[in-house]
Parts: sequence; C-alpha cells; structure tokens
Amino acid sequence: MSLNIIRPDLRSLPMSKTLAVSALANQLKSEGKEVLNLAVGEPDFDTPDFIGQAAIEAIKNGETKYTLVGGTLELKKAICHKFKRDNNLSFTTDQVMASTGCKQVLYNVLMATLEPGDEVIVPGPYWPSYPAMIKLFQGKPIIVDCPREQSFLLKPHQLDAAITEKTKWLMLNYPGNPTGAVYSKADLLNIIAVLKNHPHVWVLSDEIYEHLTYAPNVFYSIGSLDAEVGERIVTANGLSKSHSMTGWRLGFCGGHPQLIRVLTNVQSQSTTNPCSITQAAAIAALNGDNDIVFKFRDAFHARIKHFVEMLSDTKLKIDMPHGAFYVFIDVSAYNKDDVAFAESLLKSEYVAVVPGAAFGDPGHVRLSCAASEDELEEAAKRIKKFLATLD
Ligand SMILES: Cc1ncc(COP(=O)(O)O)c(C=O)c1O
Repeated sequence: MSLNIIRPDLRSLPMSKTLAVSALANQLKSEGKEVLNLAVGEPDFDTPDFIGQAAIEAIKNGETKYTLVGGTLELKKAICHKFKRDNNLSFTTDQVMASTGCKQVLYNVLMATLEPGDEVIVPGPYWPSYPAMIKLFQGKPIIVDCPREQSFLLKPHQLDAAITEKTKWLMLNYPGNPTGAVYSKADLLNIIAVLKNHPHVWVLSDEIYEHLTYAPNVFYSIGSLDAEVGERIVTANGLSKSHSMTGWRLGFCGGHPQLIRVLTNVQSQSTTNPCSITQAAAIAALNGDNDIVFKFRDAFHARIKHFVEMLSDTKLKIDMPHGAFYVFIDVSAYNKDDVAFAESLLKSEYVAVVPGAAFGDPGHVRLSCAASEDELEEAAKRIKKFLATLD
C-alpha cells in the first residue's frame, strides 16, 4: 500500500544519525556487551532533592489540574526572576512562557513564524534538530560553516553575506552543542552591529547550556546587550541541562509580548500547559540559588579536562570546549569517514559516539562527558586501543 497520506517532503526523511548509533548501542547492550554510551546529551546527576520535594508537595496539594497554557503566574514570575538575575534581561510576565522542554519552545517559535521558503540562518556545526524543525515548517535552513579554525563561531561578515530578503531568523546556540563554542561579549556586539542593518532579521537564542560556561569564558545573553535589537530576540532556555531535569520536560522563553501571545495560542492547540507538577518543581529550581548548578558545572569541567588530557598523546585533534559537556573531536587523521569510524569503534570496543555528519561536520565525532569519571577513564582506554588498530 502506498502511503500517499504522508506529506511528500517527509516521506524520505532519513532516520537521525544520532538515533542510528543509539539503536546499535542498545542492540549490543541487549546482547550482553558492556557498552559505554557517550552518545547521549544528558547529565548523569540526580535531579537535586529540593526540586523533587517541591514536586511531591505539589501532588499532595492537588496541583494536578490544567494551568494557564504558558505556565502558572508563579512560574512566570520565577522565569522573570531568573532572566533578571542570571541574564540581566528585564521581562514582565506577559513576555515569558513555559513549554514542555526547550525543544517545544523552538518548535512553537518556528511553527508560529515560518512561511514556506523563509530562510533561517544556522551556524554549523549545529544541533541536528534545528534544520530538521525548520524543514518541518517548510522553511529553508541556510547553513553557514564555522569550522574549528574560527573556533566554531559565526563571523559577522559571514552573517552579513548569508542574509537575504527571505531571512527570518538567525539561530544562535552557545555554549554550543556539539562544539562547546561560546561567544564573547565582543563577538555578540559584532553580530548585533550586523543585525542593526537588517531590521527584518530576528534572533532565536538557544541558551540551554548557559550555566555550563567554563572560566575564563563568561556567558552573556545577546538579548541583554542592545535595547533596539533586543526587541527582535527570543531567548530560549530550560532546566534539562542546568538542573539535570531532562525527563521533567520544562523549557521557557522570553520575548516580544505580541509574539509570546501567539506562541501561547499555538501551544494551546497542541500540548496546552507543561505538566503542572513539573511547573512546581521548576519554581523551586528557578527561585533556588545556583550553587548546585555551579557544582554540576565544575564537575563537568573537571571530567572534560581529564578526558581530553587522557587522549592528548593521540593524533586526534581536540580543543578544550569552552562550555557544555561535549568534546568534538577531529578523527580525520585516522579515518575521514566519521560514520565508519563511529560504527567500528562501537562494534569493536563498545564505545558509542555520534558521527560529526549528524551535526553537519563530517570528519569529527561528538562524545558526551556527562558520564562518570570511571566510565570516561575506561572509554579513553578503549578509544586508544581502537586507535592503535588504525595506525
Ligand atoms: C542545543 C539544544 N537545545 C535544546 C535542547 C533540548 O532541550 P530540552 O530537553 O529542554 O527540550 C537540547 C538537548 O539536547 C540541545 O542540545
């Protein structure tokens, strides 16, 4: 039977390369192999106890019903507090909303704004969901290559050259997945200078790894740096990475109140409010101090440093990431085909990594350091053993 019911542009949508590696890793695990999964982008810490306790209280108090679509007023106030405290962004409660993960924030924004053929500038390497989502809404991802030689950062002249009349959004993500690249204040001001000349271009700033910025790098929200361009910036964030809350599904954003109203209406026709119990947990997380977040950050930083050190006597090209918990490694000295490299590393040493092609940068693999010290040590040993067979 031919499934003509499926949209033609989605019929040939390939399976995500990330998922393909995970599927093979799971299969090997089910066969009893000791797989080290460095493919997943998920902190390994438990969600802090005070956050879980707030959720338990919410259940006991019967906070188990529909709420306002964009989150309870208390949650919106907590989001405004967080934006002011951490990002120097002044939003009122009609300028923020909560969603079921940062992913839904991005999805809402693109769904509400893209018309067929609209262009969205995506600096690469990129998180694979950006181009996928843009295509879902019949927009056109304009990938701008930002290689290792330029520290994986979008240069102002590249942005200027990529903008056309059809450009609607520039998607920024820093610290970046998969590279850990972080824009300095000066970098962001240079981007703003370009945007001043193109008043039709808006910025969707995905700041989900904000708190995982490693000194001496300092995190600045682009929306806080210029009042005029700031009007055209949607700042997206969430609790998945900062508070180890991937399963709770809570993301949020701040932006122009008219846009936020439409995003809320869009969400009202899909998932309605994020889970009411999660919202209670999120209020505790956002109103709590950031001590635990910085503890996580320091632990990730120590692991990354140790891991990179362990691989320093190989021909792998690795730069210390400036943020997030990934290491993006150039493997081309061993094998130019990153998919083949990842597959044989998994099949021979049972270490799962994601090929760079998934992020638009072949010749690399991404490893997540959100694993325990012991796992990372073992992974480094196995990787070296694998590399020795390629020399
Ligand atoms: C860059 C980036 N943005 C957004 C997300 C999604 O976050 P959430 O779990 O809040 O949907 C991820 C998760 O991997 C990510 O890497």
